[in-house]
Amino acid sequence: MRPALDAATRRLAAAGLDSPRVDAELLLAHAAGVERSRLALLDHVDDATAAGFAALVERRANREPLQYIVGRAAFRYLDLAVGPGVFVPRPETELLVDAILLHLGATPTVVDLCSGSGALALAVADEVPDAKVYAVERFAAALTWLRRNAAGGANVTVVEGDVTDPAMLAELHGGVDVVLSNPPYVPAGTAVAPEVRADPQEAVFAGADGLAVIPEVIARAAQLLRPGGRLAMEHDDTHGESVPDLLRATGEWGDVADHRDLAGRPRYVTAVRAAAPLGP
Ligand SMILES: C[S@@+](CC[C@H](N)C(=O)[O-])C[C@H]1O[C@@H](n2cnc3c(N)ncnc32)[C@H](O)[C@@H]1O
Repeated sequence: MRPALDAATRRLAAAGLDSPRVDAELLLAHAAGVERSRLALLDHVDDATAAGFAALVERRANREPLQYIVGRAAFRYLDLAVGPGVFVPRPETELLVDAILLHLGATPTVVDLCSGSGALALAVADEVPDAKVYAVERFAAALTWLRRNAAGGANVTVVEGDVTDPAMLAELHGGVDVVLSNPPYVPAGTAVAPEVRADPQEAVFAGADGLAVIPEVIARAAQLLRPGGRLAMEHDDTHGESVPDLLRATGEWGDVADHRDLAGRPRYVTAVRAAAPLGP
């Protein structure tokens, strides 16, 4: 299969992909129905598999996201179902889980706002089996994927809800230990990779400054969290100062800290819900 893989790699490189060989191998593994680690054992494939592989390579060369083509996305220890209509979870978002794990008690209540495929909610449920997790998502197409991923038995309650609604999850107000969120945050008009244009636009863009949703997430988190409860929220790499400032300006948060991703870019903020309004 090496000649076919080499040709696919050249085709994907010409299409501008960053990792054409890896993508070619993953597509061949998908077409052949084997693990990528087993490709070395694959001397020959039948004509139907070869034709299927060629078709997948063309889709990827047209910059359809790899995860949409294979229908799966890796996130921490999970393998999530994804496809058109839901945001593909990104590696940098995995950092939000690390940011809160050390701060969880034995049976925490955790809310994931803007849940998409359920990546954050399901990862917490997977890694903290006694957690009670709520996954909030507004849009129907994303909810379909979220429900599919949550159906595997994880202790995740899917909530159809809008983070701009102050009554959302009112029954949990003041009783939540952790709020996680990766909301839409890219400023409208930002040049993005073709694969990002395949994500639902309401999952990516948030008004001219990218801050149309984040203040709402902050307000919902302040309602939901108990005093001492913790927020971890992703943001655009241009918001490393403005988002922490938004939190501080409310007077409702302490220990506000911004954090970088593995590429060194400002990427997420953490904060602790204050018991009483903090002074200026
Ligand atoms: C950047 S995606 C993140 C999805 C997932 N948390 C992840 O990290 O892969 C943002 C998600 O927020 C959802 N969303 C956008 N506006 C919302 C709103 N007002 N209320 C609830 N969810 C919203 C989008 O549909 C999308 O699924």
